[in-house]
Amino acid sequence: MSTTAPVAEATGITKRFGSTVALHEASIRIDAGQTHALVGRNGAGKSTLVSILTGLQPADAGSVTFGGEPAPRLADRDAWRQRVACVYQKSTIIPELTVAENLFLNRHDRGAGGLISWKTVRAKARDLLDTWSVDVDVRTPARELDVEQRQFVEIARALSFGARFIILDEPTAQLDAAAISRLFTRINDLQRQGVTFLFISHHLQEIYEICDAVTVFRDARHILTAAVDELPRSELVAAMTGEAAAEAGSRRRGPSPDAADVLKVDDAALPGAYEDVSFRVRAGEVVGLAGAASSGRIEIAETVVGLRAAVRGTVEIAGSRPRPGSVPAALKAGAGFVPQDRHRQGLVPEMSIADNGTLTIPERLGRAGFIDGRRRDAFARAMIDNLAIKTPGPELPVSGLSGGNQQKVVMARALANDAKVLVLINPTAGVDVRSKEFLLAKVEEIAEAGTGVLIASDELDDLRMCDRVLVVFQGRVVAETARGWHDHQLVAAMEGVDLDA
Ligand SMILES: Nc1ncnc2c1ncn2[C@@H]1O[C@H](COP(=O)(O)OP(=O)(O)OP(=O)(O)O)[C@@H](O)[C@H]1O
Ligand SMILES: [Mg+2]
Repeated sequence: MSTTAPVAEATGITKRFGSTVALHEASIRIDAGQTHALVGRNGAGKSTLVSILTGLQPADAGSVTFGGEPAPRLADRDAWRQRVACVYQKSTIIPELTVAENLFLNRHDRGAGGLISWKTVRAKARDLLDTWSVDVDVRTPARELDVEQRQFVEIARALSFGARFIILDEPTAQLDAAAISRLFTRINDLQRQGVTFLFISHHLQEIYEICDAVTVFRDARHILTAAVDELPRSELVAAMTGEAAAEAGSRRRGPSPDAADVLKVDDAALPGAYEDVSFRVRAGEVVGLAGAASSGRIEIAETVVGLRAAVRGTVEIAGSRPRPGSVPAALKAGAGFVPQDRHRQGLVPEMSIADNGTLTIPERLGRAGFIDGRRRDAFARAMIDNLAIKTPGPELPVSGLSGGNQQKVVMARALANDAKVLVLINPTAGVDVRSKEFLLAKVEEIAEAGTGVLIASDELDDLRMCDRVLVVFQGRVVAETARGWHDHQLVAAMEGVDLDA
């Protein structure tokens, strides 16, 4: 037992949302200087605990302490900010303001007459970022920051309020490999400087890479807390899922030799994003588009589904050429897709799970524009069962779902589409280990039934079942590898290293 009080401790926390019990007498204790992982399946209660640990909402029961002292009153935001901060996937900075303005929002030093000195604000902001070695120009409008820079700015802001306990809720979900390794270096540096982290991620290898301790939540409850190096991965997964780990393995046969092309991209170019892109996907074939976030792979996939239009070249879906740059045209031609950003392109948050899940398949739910509510709900219920979506029912607005469960709705909808070509961009981002296996197995099943699949991702697990992987680097397809590649080969190719050279 350590004698010093934990940096943060939550005890006996219960939290309900209507009929959903998000946390049931859950506890966690985070000791000073640790990087402590919090893991669990989608909907286990992780983000809810974070909101309680940061004072954003009250628990129904239980208590929170910081350094052994009771947590401040909820209304005392300043006191909370001095103790804890969370960097969310969704940004809390204001896009219209500059970095400096964001850093010193609401606490400008006022000179004589109460005027804000922007010069002082900028200088202080620069100082702050220098102290924590964040390499960002403070005059940059926040909207121009990428995810990585935004996270660093938010961490620096938290530290500037005096907090030495920082929660990172799925910080790596939208970062590519290079950015993740920079983030980890930063976490290690800060840890040495006395900062304690609570780290949430569905990538279990990351837990083993940078965390000291791990706590597992399952179905709103605390299951275990252990030192990371004393908990083998299989036991970690078993604790998360409540069952022994399944053997993953692909049994797919791949496309038949005479399968027709269902997607043809020829000489496509979109200056600034990609050049000279040509490839085919056949019926029943799964093709990967691998590459870093900035490689151009996402833009290529978005062009196929009409979210972008190529400046040169053509896209042919199942024998027809839909109008470039039109999503409805691409869907009509036979595309189904999972967009990169479910918040912006995927879901209508205030609509129900049932409505969101069936948005693109109204024709399957009734004739001539009339949607049969019972058919819709039956479909939605099957989807909820199949994908283990954690919700009291299909009528709930998707805004009430946990992050990973929202992604499952987006996936389910794409899978329901009976598409000729299914285009998936980072399909399993934020999805827990077990659901990931399930979703990918579903994709394989759909390919077996004759759909062509294009997966644009940098997650090796998403790419493993592909018949071929095309590697995109700086806007060009630079390599193609058949199934059975080694992780290091593909990673090297994505980073632009030519292994044969
Ligand atoms: N505002 C809300 N309204 C209704 N239900 C909610 C709300 N916030 C969370 N829930 C429910 O509480 C449960 C726990 O959700 P939470 O977001 O904490 O899960 P999580 O462990 O962070 O999952 P994920 O890994 O998918 O992010 C879920 O069943 C979720 O649907
Ligand atoms: Mg969450």
